[in-house]
Amino acid sequence: MTESVLLRLTPTRLAPEQAAFAAHVAAGLAARPRVLPARFFYDETGSALFETITKLPEYYPTRTESSLLAAHGADIARLVGPGRAVLEFGAGSATKTPLLLRHLAARAYVPIDISGPFMQAAARALAEAHPGLAVHPVIADFTSAYSLPQAVRGQDLLGFFPGSTIGNFSPAEAVDLLRKFRAVLGAQGWLVIGIDTRKSPSILVPAYDDAAGVTARFNLNLLARINRELGASIPLDAFAHEIRWNDAEGRIEMHLRAERAVSFTLLGQRHEMARGETLHTENSYKFTYEEASLLARAAGFTPRACWTDAAGLFALHAWQATAAALHP
Ligand code: AVJ
Repeated sequence: MTESVLLRLTPTRLAPEQAAFAAHVAAGLAARPRVLPARFFYDETGSALFETITKLPEYYPTRTESSLLAAHGADIARLVGPGRAVLEFGAGSATKTPLLLRHLAARAYVPIDISGPFMQAAARALAEAHPGLAVHPVIADFTSAYSLPQAVRGQDLLGFFPGSTIGNFSPAEAVDLLRKFRAVLGAQGWLVIGIDTRKSPSILVPAYDDAAGVTARFNLNLLARINRELGASIPLDAFAHEIRWNDAEGRIEMHLRAERAVSFTLLGQRHEMARGETLHTENSYKFTYEEASLLARAAGFTPRACWTDAAGLFALHAWQATAAALHP
């Protein structure tokens, strides 16, 4: 979305974070088909629900990626060498980080996350567990511009981007983001990235539509957050959680479907939805090995290693910054 559209839609009398939230929601509701921005799932309730999702029997990504890190941490360490500063993009609670740091003989750890308090606590715990490791948290949105702590500038860097968060971005946005990572990591940089694999919808759909209904609550919490923080009155009971596998785009889509005609007011604007209309709340792209490697190369990385579990449920990739060279 262009800056001017966002500014035009930005209501006054809101704190800056709230204003950005309001602008994205207003723009999404005005769009056809309607969309809501997935990055706003993670308020306190949403973060707790996501934590529960990661432990659900149907949600294979978290436990599979953790096993891959546990099994191949030493391989990664051999590949990238000792003495690096590790940058984690969107560190959050940093639960997978110890699995990497255990083997790495890293010089420093730089978690980058928008949520200050959550990350600070995780950073403190990591510093305690790894005496001698310098921890320099950066409170920033990793998709925007930020500067690295003075202490790690000029050091050899290793980026860490687990969780298949890359799947929340469209392919074009994903390349933009990875190019930013490449710019931050520099010519000697490596990136260890977790990417969910393309697989049967019979496995994918239940992972996002679990029997216990936790993902449904996670999805609906976005509407609750809009009501709470933006003073809207969206009737939550009118909406149902809907998961679609979009085979042409290679992505799981999460929607909220109006079960009856609904109307509500948000920031002085009236919205009417017909029965069956949806709010598209999230994309989660899945990648073949070839697609993942294409992303790497488009962003200036060379794929060096890829580890996957026996069932091929999830993939852990190690990419090295492609050396700048003259081309004929
Ligand atoms: C955190 C973006 C990787 O897409 O699998 C989980 C978010 N949404 N269940 C994913 C999510 C619904 C998750 N990511």
